Amino acid sequence: MHFGTSWYPEHWPAERWPRDLELMREAGMTVVRLGDFAWSRLEPEEGRFETDWLAEALDQLAGHGLSAVLATPTAGPPVWLTDRYPDTLIVDAQGRRAGHGNRAHGSPSSPRHREHCARIAGVLARRFGRHPAVIGWQIDNELNALSHDEDTRRQFAGWLKARYGTVEALNRAWHLAFWSQEYRDWSQLPIPVGVQHPSLTLAWRRFATTVFRDFVRCQADAIRAHARPGQWISHNVMTAQDDYDLAALAEDLDLVGLDYYVGRLDHPGAGAHHDVVRGLKRRPYWLMEAQPGSACWSQVNNALDRGEARRLAWTAVGHGADAVLFWQWRSSPGGQEQYHGTLVGPDGRPRPFYEEAAVIGRELAAAAPALAGTVPAPEVAVLQGYEDRWAVEAQRHHAGFDPTAYWTSFHRALRLRGLDVDVVVPSTPLDGYRVVVAPTLHLLDDGTGERLLDWVRRGGRLLLGVRTGMKDTENLLLPGRQPGPLAAAGVSVVEYYALPDPVPVAGELLGGRAGRARIWAEWLDPDPAAGARVLLRYGAAGGWLDGRPAVVEVPLGAGTVTYCGAWLDEDGTDAVVGRLLAGSGIRAPLDVPEDVELCRRVRPDGEQVLVLVSHARERRSVALPEPCTDVLTGVRHEDAVEIAGGDVVVLVPAGDGPRRA
Ligand code: GAL
Repeated sequence: MHFGTSWYPEHWPAERWPRDLELMREAGMTVVRLGDFAWSRLEPEEGRFETDWLAEALDQLAGHGLSAVLATPTAGPPVWLTDRYPDTLIVDAQGRRAGHGNRAHGSPSSPRHREHCARIAGVLARRFGRHPAVIGWQIDNELNALSHDEDTRRQFAGWLKARYGTVEALNRAWHLAFWSQEYRDWSQLPIPVGVQHPSLTLAWRRFATTVFRDFVRCQADAIRAHARPGQWISHNVMTAQDDYDLAALAEDLDLVGLDYYVGRLDHPGAGAHHDVVRGLKRRPYWLMEAQPGSACWSQVNNALDRGEARRLAWTAVGHGADAVLFWQWRSSPGGQEQYHGTLVGPDGRPRPFYEEAAVIGRELAAAAPALAGTVPAPEVAVLQGYEDRWAVEAQRHHAGFDPTAYWTSFHRALRLRGLDVDVVVPSTPLDGYRVVVAPTLHLLDDGTGERLLDWVRRGGRLLLGVRTGMKDTENLLLPGRQPGPLAAAGVSVVEYYALPDPVPVAGELLGGRAGRARIWAEWLDPDPAAGARVLLRYGAAGGWLDGRPAVVEVPLGAGTVTYCGAWLDEDGTDAVVGRLLAGSGIRAPLDVPEDVELCRRVRPDGEQVLVLVSHARERRSVALPEPCTDVLTGVRHEDAVEIAGGDVVVLVPAGDGPRRA
């Protein structure tokens, strides 16, 4: 368990450093991330490297018992580089080449930019790969933009050629006879801008993924050549930056960092971000950046309330973060982020937030022994694929169809029941899960369909959402009915409708309650021969859907497939999820009210730690099946634990040893 901050020693005279490091230690910090953006200080002229100051900073960190995550400075190319090599600068979709004066202006697809990035990464690794303070590396910072220059376009065309062989094959694969979009030569292939052919748009995102992976690999190879065994390599992502496949990028990393900035901490919304990031490698991750108070780039940069950052930190830890770092340590006198929250002001004195950070530091230290070696171990997965998301996003068909809002509606229902959830990409092996929710497997191939059905036959309970199995992996409509290869289970879609107004739904799933479908509804066709059973029907709204099946459950082998053909309201979504769980044997470890967040981390031997974060204003009582100790206070709770509004408790079984999962 690590606790720390982003520190920019290059902003301050070296005489000040010891005081900053003492203050960090006093706040319970154990780790510092540094180096990101420091390129102009590390290589002030081409080929002239100045790393002594960084060596001194790292030595001082080690001297204060602090570890370091050394970030490569490549998101801040220096002016000598961009002046001499303008081809390294990124070009936006409107054809404008970036200038100097901001950041992230280097083009990840530029071979020359990569060469310089790999060189500075190698220089740092050669000097600091064995430094005792450096426990890991971060490559660049929040990669997200791809250049639209001619060389990148050529690379894209080359990538397409390698994939499709000939333009004729590409014309066929993408059905380019539509609107005379056929190409005759690779040189004619454009970078998609705005509304473009869906297959081209999808291909561009796939290409972006390979560009970012190659960019990261160039630096990772340069670092690994010198890093001592045990030093890990990471990159920090924001879950909203989904223009490339984050899961594919994560394959090349040892650890993923999450940068998480919010206006307000939202339960269970925040947990969805954490579950996505943990799901990238199905492993604990680091909360690499969180705001100490406020950010500085929103419409209203409110500070988090007193105690809110503490809850944010514990939400992260509950969901699998093994570290919490606040960005940044001290207000930088100059630059674009002068107003951002920090722990220490420009005067060098702790700001009010420092006190809350120190509480978090103390608590993480107190809980660290109990949390050591634990991981979240959900039995439920939500499948969330980037390609499906891009395809739906590009053709929402209903402006309100936000793919993220859709999949998180299921995540929310699961989390409010106190269940831990993995959010993973559809190619993830499903063994180990008993319940899988697949909100939108929009692009579906036969292999994935068969793999899912096979998992169901062996006892899995699968929930499919709307727009499933509509297209193939080239983003072409499948010739058969939805859900494509999954129709073999015994339910198919006759027609889909974008809903201008909600439509009533009713049936056994809701008992006597009236429900509503909104935004999207599909008319389902259950196969009685397969044993399909209608759980909900659309009510009378004077349209095509009147009386048609909306939710259908089909037994298949030892499991079930449930097709939820409508975007249901919260009650309906909860009822579908409840039906899926009933009979699965999956239960939350404790019964918690909706405004108390429950997360469980489990050790390989089955021993567990329960993290409870209250998002309530008032006191809540949670019954305990056996006596537990709160490791934050050392207090033992017998039959129930009382949690004050906004408080956090971290429970382990009291007595002889941890309770078994
Ligand atoms: C992040 C970025 C940091 C800092 C922070 C606060 O997105 O990685 O370098 O800018 O936001 O705005």
